[in-house]
Amino acid sequence: MSEKPKLEIGPGWTPNEGYLTLDIRSLPHIDYVLDASKPLPFPDGSFSRVLACHVLEHFSHAQTRAILKEWGRILESGGEIEIHCPDLEWAFRNYVAGNISFGVAVLNIFGAQEYEYDYHKTGFDLLTLSILLAEAGFKDVRRLNQPMDDDGWQLKVVATRL
Ligand SMILES: C[S@@+](CC[C@H](N)C(=O)[O-])C[C@H]1O[C@@H](n2cnc3c(N)ncnc32)[C@H](O)[C@@H]1O
Repeated sequence: MSEKPKLEIGPGWTPNEGYLTLDIRSLPHIDYVLDASKPLPFPDGSFSRVLACHVLEHFSHAQTRAILKEWGRILESGGEIEIHCPDLEWAFRNYVAGNISFGVAVLNIFGAQEYEYDYHKTGFDLLTLSILLAEAGFKDVRRLNQPMDDDGWQLKVVATRL
């Protein structure tokens, strides 16, 4: 197992244990106050794992490819990236089927919008995110949960850096 540190991007108020933390907001437990959509001040392969829960959809779709490439650059070869985001296929299917309200669909698509950095600018389904990860230099993209699970509104994927 690699000795390199793990990095959580955008933990907000709920950081996961065992990770260094990076967020654009200067919260008490944040190690690096940085914009995760910009080039990051870490050498290539600095981290063994990158975790980003409900962050990637906060950046323009025009930036997604470059951002995933940059997050991959700071990961060592063989390291894992774990991404959580709303599953828009789940939202679309469940809204059309009458299983969720229009309000719930809007929340999933556009974000809670409770503060400046809480707006969604893009969204993903499993196929789209898998293609983007593959294009950014990741392999073995796998979903950790299933659409029928209690947390199926979220897309939770892990991929390995080539
Ligand atoms: C919806 S919250 C997710 C918080 C937590 N990860 C979770 O899953 O509950 C989005 C987080 O991403 C951070 N964020 C938004 N834009 C960012 C940016 N450009 N760079 C770094 N962090 C950003 C926000 O400050 C916030 O903490």
